[in-house]
Amino acid sequence: MDSDIEIKQQVREFYDQVGWQTESDGFYQNASYEDLRPVAHEYIHKCHLRVLRHLNPTGHYLLDAGSGPIQYPEYLEYSRGYRFRVCADISIVALKEARRRIGEHGLYVVCDVAHLPFRSDSFDGQVSLHTIHHLPLEEQVRAYQELQRTLASTGKAVIVNGWDNPPLTRFFNFGIKLYIRLYAIFKAPSKPAQTDAGLCLPVNPSPARGTFVRKGDAAWLQKNVGSLMPIRIFCWRSVNVQFLRTFIHPRLAGRFLLKILYWKEELFPQFLGKYGQYPLIEMVKRR
Ligand SMILES: C[S@@+](CC[C@H](N)C(=O)[O-])C[C@H]1O[C@@H](n2cnc3c(N)ncnc32)[C@H](O)[C@@H]1O
Repeated sequence: MDSDIEIKQQVREFYDQVGWQTESDGFYQNASYEDLRPVAHEYIHKCHLRVLRHLNPTGHYLLDAGSGPIQYPEYLEYSRGYRFRVCADISIVALKEARRRIGEHGLYVVCDVAHLPFRSDSFDGQVSLHTIHHLPLEEQVRAYQELQRTLASTGKAVIVNGWDNPPLTRFFNFGIKLYIRLYAIFKAPSKPAQTDAGLCLPVNPSPARGTFVRKGDAAWLQKNVGSLMPIRIFCWRSVNVQFLRTFIHPRLAGRFLLKILYWKEELFPQFLGKYGQYPLIEMVKRR
């Protein structure tokens, strides 16, 4: 069993050497975990912007815990009303890339989100997207405690991570397996899979290499974190990339289906936040 330090070292090496290296398509390797096809663009864009609803629009310091290189344009919006965006990451490559994007608007700190080197009550806003899941579960609680400690009394934080195999994903996985079976039966084996224009196999065309990830479920979060600080769970995105690549295609009303999905997520944010794939966790300071 690897120690926490060894795990973090592996994660850091992964992001320095793989995750934040640019692939032949011009995107970071890390972007192969996202659906960047035009058919999904509007849906993904609107999901990214959901974060803004839960942040204070203005302030002095916004902490981006596990900032990476601030890879998507929507991420820039989170700190637009802030004087500084403090980018904190264990990957030096990530921070060099972030500096290329936001220059003097940023302050760059190599550190561990579970041991933040900042004074208490420092940040008017905090975001942490897809980062805390790289820690062992006990350390994840510590990361939430560190975010809570460094949040100002009127500050607001948004944390986005995935759940471990939530009910909605389990339900769709059944459909995905069926789809693969039917595809194997009805398609000639020699015929190559089509891409964005039509049906494609529900696999990632450039399979992402990964690193250490641990995810809990909503009950785990409520018990271990919700008992320590005020959090509320909303929907960031209810489906994963495998779902999108399998069921969403331009010739099969993909854009329309995603509009309906987004609308459902807006109608039932707490239900789909708990049982869908990616929750948005809003945190405020404990009184
Ligand atoms: C999946 S990327 C997400 C980056 C960015 N937030 C985004 O959504 O594009 C995870 C980032 O968290 C960083 N990271 C992982 N474990 C960390 C830790 N313990 N402390 C600080 N950063 C960490 C990685 O170096 C990487 O840049």
